[in-house]
Amino acid sequence: MAALEHGVGRVLISEEEIKARISAMGQRLTAEYAGKRLLLVSVLKGAFVFMADLMREIKLPCEIDFMCVSSYRDGTDSTGTVEVVKDLAMDVREYDVLIVEDILDSGRTLSAVRKLLEGREPRSLAVCTLLDKPARRVVPVECEYTCFEIPDEFAVGYGLDYAEMYRNLPYIGIYVPDSN
Ligand code: IMP
Ligand code: MG
Repeated sequence: MAALEHGVGRVLISEEEIKARISAMGQRLTAEYAGKRLLLVSVLKGAFVFMADLMREIKLPCEIDFMCVSSYRDGTDSTGTVEVVKDLAMDVREYDVLIVEDILDSGRTLSAVRKLLEGREPRSLAVCTLLDKPARRVVPVECEYTCFEIPDEFAVGYGLDYAEMYRNLPYIGIYVPDSN
């Protein structure tokens, strides 16, 4: 096997495991959203890789839009302030909206995004997250679909970054400063 990137201590979820889980999640969403008007909303930047793969496993007509929020971080911890950096282009009112997130950590980002979109009165609103770190939750937030629960460690790869790096890794690894 190829050597890990500098800064990645170990692989947490392999490329094959990600693919299998997303395929199963896509099947479930295909059944649950049949006959609905599905709009996938990706929360940038981290969720764009997940959304690209997930949407191809949902065998239904669907539309997509993007929203960019910045949850101010101090190293690896969010500070509690969430700002909408780029808003959706679409009016969500006639849609069954599925928010696609990369990771649920303190819950602050998702809680803010959920409230914001709920206020715009979509037909329905649900969340699908790739990763969940339940041990880190500060703000309770509803999440209907979770691909993987992970321990309290800092994950990188498959869209997730540390200081904007590692997003292009095909697997999810644990960030360990100065490893390798
Ligand atoms: P929350 O508001 O604390 O739930 O943080 C959510 C956001 O923080 C995610 O959308 C990520 O951008 C980032 N984040 C939280 N934990 C991690 C991690 O382990 N690796 C990479 N980014 C993370
Ligand atoms: Mg993010």
